Amino acid sequence: KLMDDIMGISQLEDTIREKLNIKKVIIVPGDSDEDKSVIKDIGKCTYKYLMGILKESVIIGVTGGNTMFEFAQCLPECKKEKNVLIVPARGGLGKEVEIQSNTIAATVAKKLCGNYRLLHVPDNVGKDILESLMSEPDINKTLEYIKNVDILIFGIGRAEEMAKRRKMEEDIIEYISSKGAVGEAFGHYFNRDGQTIYQTSTIGITVEDFKKIKDAIGIAGGTKKAEAIIAISKIKKDLVLITDQGAANKILELI
Ligand code: BG6
Repeated sequence: KLMDDIMGISQLEDTIREKLNIKKVIIVPGDSDEDKSVIKDIGKCTYKYLMGILKESVIIGVTGGNTMFEFAQCLPECKKEKNVLIVPARGGLGKEVEIQSNTIAATVAKKLCGNYRLLHVPDNVGKDILESLMSEPDINKTLEYIKNVDILIFGIGRAEEMAKRRKMEEDIIEYISSKGAVGEAFGHYFNRDGQTIYQTSTIGITVEDFKKIKDAIGIAGGTKKAEAIIAISKIKKDLVLITDQGAANKILELI
């Protein structure tokens, strides 16, 4: 039975990789929508994958979210100093301090015995405030590191859910859904073709930066995230996706 499951999953990985037309797909058993512990398995898999590609002197970008939180939690404490720098991919996310990219960046850096830089810029502030913040030398330096991320580990969310979580205005939520936004990543909202419909006004990684990143690892599971995953896959063909069976089966249904 176990062997059957393993065979089944590796076949599913191949099929999903072909369907999404991306670099690599790793699938853990189960469905995060039904069983929250599956998110932890996604976290562990992400750690394993990261260890395989991690080199000296790399810059790692991380986003926030529950999946990223579990990833950070599952990292074992390091034994020796590593020359890695961890940066948040973008500014914070309202009040949810525990799952903000800043917090995740600090946790990941501590666990890997690396260094980190934080980006203390709230979501949804005015353009002029953002511009003056960006001219602050410290923030500017962090932004430069973000533009040069070697590895990005990021969560993928459903557009509507993320808009609500970010407490966006009702008319903006309506606008994004009327435009067909299904997926969200690093503050950008995408339609099924991977086109940007809307972006939160904050600073950090852009879609253009994202496209250039050497190792981008999207981590997201659960049936409900299938459409969002499809959308993100359209943007970057060399994406690595770490997901679960729930999302994978739904993707099969959709494409
Ligand atoms: C957010 C990321 O913090 O987490 C988003 O900035 C991502 O880009 C989202 O879509 C996913 O969250 P979760 O909780 O579903 O893992």
